Amino acid sequence: MRTIAEELTLLVSQAAETMGHVGFSVDACVPTASAQHGDYQSNFAFRLGKHLKMNPRAMAQAMVDALPPHPAVVGAEVAGPGFINFRLSEAWLAQNVGERLAADRMGPPAPGAEKTVVIDYSSPNVAKRMHVGHLRSTIIGGALHQLHRFLGWNVVADNHIGDWGTQFGKLIVAWHEWRDEAAYAEDAIAELQRLYVLFGEKAKAQPDLEDRARAETARLQSGDPENVRLWTQFVEVSLVEFDALYQRMGIKFDVILGESFYRDDLKPLVDRMLADGIAVDSDGAVIVPLGDVEPQFAEQPLLVRKSDGAALYGTTDLATVYYRQKTWAPDKVVYVTDMRQRDHFRQVFAACRKMGIEHNFVHVYFGMLRLPDGAVPSSRSGLALNLKEVLDIAVAHARKVVDEKSGHLSDIERAEIAEAVGVGAIRYADLSQNPQTDIVFDLAKMLSLDGNTAPYLMYAHARCKSILRKAADEGASSGPMVLEHPLERELALAVARLPEAVLDAANSYRPNLLCEYLFGLANTFARFYGACRVLGADVEPNTTASRLALTAATAMALREGMGIVGLRALDRM
Ligand code: ARG
Repeated sequence: MRTIAEELTLLVSQAAETMGHVGFSVDACVPTASAQHGDYQSNFAFRLGKHLKMNPRAMAQAMVDALPPHPAVVGAEVAGPGFINFRLSEAWLAQNVGERLAADRMGPPAPGAEKTVVIDYSSPNVAKRMHVGHLRSTIIGGALHQLHRFLGWNVVADNHIGDWGTQFGKLIVAWHEWRDEAAYAEDAIAELQRLYVLFGEKAKAQPDLEDRARAETARLQSGDPENVRLWTQFVEVSLVEFDALYQRMGIKFDVILGESFYRDDLKPLVDRMLADGIAVDSDGAVIVPLGDVEPQFAEQPLLVRKSDGAALYGTTDLATVYYRQKTWAPDKVVYVTDMRQRDHFRQVFAACRKMGIEHNFVHVYFGMLRLPDGAVPSSRSGLALNLKEVLDIAVAHARKVVDEKSGHLSDIERAEIAEAVGVGAIRYADLSQNPQTDIVFDLAKMLSLDGNTAPYLMYAHARCKSILRKAADEGASSGPMVLEHPLERELALAVARLPEAVLDAANSYRPNLLCEYLFGLANTFARFYGACRVLGADVEPNTTASRLALTAATAMALREGMGIVGLRALDRM
């Protein structure tokens, strides 16, 4: 299925072809800022005219004249210095939205999984609390996962947890020396984290601790049963805690293949790279020089083996690339981490290019999360420490609002709504901002009923549903759509644009574009509902039927879009 923008872009390229201008990349048509200028705009004639040193307006006019007819288009005219503005047909819009309503899906019909994407996200480190960076990776990665699913990609969601490395030797020493069994039973990760920190402090005064830790790591690596048992246990208790959080947030993975999964691949991989001349010896260590493929890294090779023989984070990433290639032959691989890992991934991707692995690698990186006073949350400020607490606070705040607004609902219903709003608000506040900026963690703002927030969208959806319930009680039902009022037209167009918004968000790895779309849709619905009566003795039955269909289509588009960004579309609030 083509989106409206794609459909129009195709028309423009056909017109250009008729005119004999072939081989140019055609600019995509984009929605106009205001309906006065039509619904979509093309800049191609303007650019082409300039490029060919012809009058851009004349070029645009010639292109308009050459446009093949299309049922969606009732008007195409030249505007400004050489833009083409398209106006869509009301009948076509009504039919388009009506068909999708009947098919019970506003999004594009899933084209069947032809392409595969591996998305590497969340990826926390075991025996430690997730920090805010992992929370953002979980939320943004989860949305990218759903965006691709919705578009029909075959998605492999892989949680590449940090479950291997020298920290386990330290942890094992600390466990034997200072563990507090009661504290471990109470909150395993807190206790492991305490032990790890304690080890660091003690090792400053007692350097032999480091030697012992190295010995324990070596024993773990060579399969010592006791150390393997401890390590397995540390991994398991961590996964239990991570899982609780994933469940609560509705986050799913297809596989959890942590760093340890690749541990036996690392040595042969580096040996092979040495043999192939991709990696070279450097004072006993092994590096991959990158200057030949990425001049920027001429002075920054990728270190793949330390002089003591140990492999590194990047070595594991290279082994992971091979495994994914062999197992899923993905068309692209997307990594979601904070921006501090930008250079790391650039180096890894460059090394892959040297090894002849050509698929599309994407690093989606994001900024920091700040508190309203500008501070970055740290263990000291408390926010980094306990995400469960953060969610609980959001839910408690939401509960207060729900109690005020929806006292008529049962206690169980209100608890369910508060959970959905609180957790949804945290996710949505993150997703609704450009990932590449720092975001502000402002609970009051994210729970506000006004503005681009989770509760605003959730209420908009519940409102549509309540109108539909009321109609059903009154025996009114939906029927063919007729778009007469400007706001009916605007709403139908907004609904019809869902696939486009999903595609834009997926292609640019920016879920915030979908959030903006949803906010716009909810706004348009509010204006429509303010201006166009749906039910009432004095409303024409055909008008009621048409407006009910529009309302149902809006609810469906909201529900589908909200599902992608992790918001539950409740029927009543
Ligand atoms: N565990 C890593 C960290 O906490 C993130 C892993 C990201 N994925 C990867 N393939 N390197 O920083």
